[in-house]
Amino acid sequence: MSIIHLKRVFWTLSLISAILMIWYVAIPTHPVIEHINWMYFYEYEPVYKQKFVFTLREQIKCNENNPFLVILVASRPADVKVRQAIRITWGSQKSWWGNQVWTLFLLGQGGEREDGLALSIKDESILYGDIIRQDFLDTYDNLTLKTIMAFRWVAEFCPNTKYIMKTDSDVFINTGNLVKFLLKPNISENFITGYPFIHSSSYRGLYKKIYISYNDYPFNVYPPYCSGLGYILNSRLACRIHETMHHVKPIKFEDVYVGICLNILGESISIPDAELFFLYRINFDICKYKHLIAVHGISSHEMIRYWQEIKQETPVPCR
Ligand SMILES: *[C@@H]1O[C@H](CO)[C@@H](O)[C@H](O)[C@H]1NC(C)=O
Ligand SMILES: *[C@@H]1O[C@H](CO)[C@@H](O)[C@H](O)[C@H]1NC(C)=O
Repeated sequence: MSIIHLKRVFWTLSLISAILMIWYVAIPTHPVIEHINWMYFYEYEPVYKQKFVFTLREQIKCNENNPFLVILVASRPADVKVRQAIRITWGSQKSWWGNQVWTLFLLGQGGEREDGLALSIKDESILYGDIIRQDFLDTYDNLTLKTIMAFRWVAEFCPNTKYIMKTDSDVFINTGNLVKFLLKPNISENFITGYPFIHSSSYRGLYKKIYISYNDYPFNVYPPYCSGLGYILNSRLACRIHETMHHVKPIKFEDVYVGICLNILGESISIPDAELFFLYRINFDICKYKHLIAVHGISSHEMIRYWQEIKQETPVPCR
């Protein structure tokens, strides 16, 4: 066989494998269900009621205090620094124009990685009284369990708060603006808002973090939902969503999961004005930060700097 012939065989084989690869990635091998009925996810028996045990709870009692807003922050056990930054910045002020606003942290169990912490989670809880924790493993794929814990906590221990917000620990929140936003009249009974995703597609490619299997989610598009960076709802709706969660199998994206429950309930999200919720980090700009409610991707150092800036009076008035 000549070298030229071998080369040709080699190239032909490469071409075939490339085509097979593209075909594998691009063309679904599973039948995709086109017509979406959210009841597909609903079991009539409450088979998905989670039974994890609360191992730590906040110290302040909800029924004696009637908070206006409770901000629940998903946080990993090892992130002590970030929790400290939040405690001295946007989570520091407990009352805004006479309305009580609490910031509490949601944790799972960290396993061995927790042993090295300077301040144990238990001590932190005694010191600050702002930790809510259950006995599931704290991993990225378990974030949905953390959100279910948040909703269960509201339903069981704090149904009398007016609003709740679920957010993440790398989010900067302009708490004053958030409270002002919620103090506006005519917010409806079943209110939920945040950064909206309306027709986003489920992803079947190779990037693990956003991949979801056909088994877990057979549809091409997700229901309308609010990004996990921060969604705000009233507690009545939170309790209804919590009840629905007992009937819906958790999927790995907590925000989509809440969206599924919301759509089963027949409720829709309120689309906020632009420039209030930012999915990605934006550079500090005093006027933008004074206007926004939540921005994602902010480090604890930045949080401290930005908070000091927005607490000061601006020399230049913002429009
Ligand atoms: C989620 O938590 C449960 C309970 O602790 C644990 O058994 C499971 O392995 C965790 N799952 C993932 C994907 O980390
Ligand atoms: C509040 O109600 C008024 C009058 O019905 C209406 O014009 C306005 O758009 C409403 N605002 C919001 C935020 O829904």
